[in-house]
Amino acid sequence: MDMKINPVDSLDCTIDVPGDKSISHRSVMIGAIADGVTDVENFLPGEDCLSTVRCIRQLGIEVEQIGPTHLQVRGKGSGGLSEPENYMDAGNSGTTIRLLSGILAGQNFLSILTGDASIRRRPMGRIADPLRHMGANIWGRSGGRFAPIAIQGGNLKGIDYKTPVASAQIKSAVLLAGLFADGETVVTEPAPSRDHTEKMLQAFGADIYVDGLRTAVKASSLTARKVVVPGDISSAAFFLVAGAIIPGSRITVRNVGLNSTRTGILDVLEEMGASISIGNRYESSGEMIGDVTVTGQGLKGVAIGGNLIPRLIDEIPVLAVAAAVAEGKTTIKDAAELKVKESNRLRAIATELSRMGADISETDDGLIINGRQTFNGAVCNSYHDHRIAMACALMALRASGPTVVQGAECIDISFPGFVETLDGLYT
Ligand code: S3P
Repeated sequence: MDMKINPVDSLDCTIDVPGDKSISHRSVMIGAIADGVTDVENFLPGEDCLSTVRCIRQLGIEVEQIGPTHLQVRGKGSGGLSEPENYMDAGNSGTTIRLLSGILAGQNFLSILTGDASIRRRPMGRIADPLRHMGANIWGRSGGRFAPIAIQGGNLKGIDYKTPVASAQIKSAVLLAGLFADGETVVTEPAPSRDHTEKMLQAFGADIYVDGLRTAVKASSLTARKVVVPGDISSAAFFLVAGAIIPGSRITVRNVGLNSTRTGILDVLEEMGASISIGNRYESSGEMIGDVTVTGQGLKGVAIGGNLIPRLIDEIPVLAVAAAVAEGKTTIKDAAELKVKESNRLRAIATELSRMGADISETDDGLIINGRQTFNGAVCNSYHDHRIAMACALMALRASGPTVVQGAECIDISFPGFVETLDGLYT
C-alpha cells in the first residue's frame, strides 16, 4: 500500500494512540500462565500482538475478544499449557518469539516457532543460549541462532545470567523461564531496559525481586488480574515529534505510558529545545500514565548515547527526523542494536531521510545528522518496517511537496489507525 503525505504548516490538536505493544504482549502471555481470567483493557490490536494471541490459543488457552481492544485471557496456571498441534507463527514480532520461547523452555513438550522473513533473519542465539543453560533443548537454523526454532522444554534449573546487551526481550525470556525453574534465576543487565515484565509479574504475585540492574525470580504461581494497557509512548513519539518539528504547533497525546525505562524520547526532545508538559498523571496496573503536550519551537542538535539508548531504542528513527530539522549536529552512538531490528534501522533511516534532502549518515553504531531547513518530497521505502514507514511520514510533514511511502501496510504491526490520526492533523 502506498501512503501519500502532504506537508503541513502548523498543528493544534489532541489525540489518543493505541495501547502499548510491549505491555499488550505481556498481558496475554502472563495471563495464560496465571490462574483465572485476566481482563485486558486497551489491548493493542496490532499485527504483532495478534500473533501473540494466536500462538497462545495454539497452546490451549482461551482468549476471548470482548471488544476491539478488550480481551479476556482464561489462564490455566503454571501447568496449564498444552503441546501445540502445529508450528506457531510469530509473524514480524520479536517480542512474541523471544518471550514465548522463555515460557516454552519451561514446558515439558515440543514447540516449534517461526516468523516472517525479517524474524528469520533476527538473532535468536541471544535467548537460546541462556535457555539451554537452564536445561531446555533448543534447535534452530545455523546451530540454533535463527528461526525456525524448536524447543523441548522442562526440568529447568535457575541460572545467574549477565545479558551481553541491554535487551528487555532477553531479560524477559530468562525471567519467564525462571518461573518454571528449580531454585533462583538471576538476570543482570549492562544498563536498564524496559521493565514491564518485572512490573507485571510483581502485580500477578510472582516471587520476584529487583535490585538495580539485577532481577531475581523463583518458581511462582501467578494470579490473574485486570490490566489496563497505557497508550504506547513509542506510537505517541511520532506525534510528539510532529509537534516539535513544526514551529508554532501544539500537540497533546492523552493517556501515554510514562514508565521511566521508556521516556528517553521526552528527555531528548526537551534537551533539543521542545517544550514538554505532562498533565493528568495517574498509575494503573503498576505503570505511570499521563497526558503529554509538546509545543514546537526551534530545535537544536544533541548527543545521544550510553544508558539513554535502551530508554528510546524504538524512537531513534523518529528522533532522526527531529535531528534532521534541528539547528546543528546530532550524534547518535551505542545504538548498534538497531541493525538487528525489523530492518537495519540505521541504514534504512539514513537512506530514506537522505532522499528527502536530510544530511544524515550511518556510522558503525549510530547516526550523524546535520540539521537543515528545507526538504523535498520523495518516494520512500518502508523496508516492511513499521517504524521506518511512520518516521518517513513524519519527515514528509516538513517537505516542500508530497511524499509517498511505499509498503505502508506494515504500520498495522504497531499502530493501526496511524493514517487516520495523521489525516486528522490537517483539519
Ligand atoms: C521490546 C524490547 C525491545 C524493543 C521491542 C520491544 C519488548 O527489543 O525494541 O520493540 O517488548 O521487550 P530488545 O529487547 O531487542 O531491545
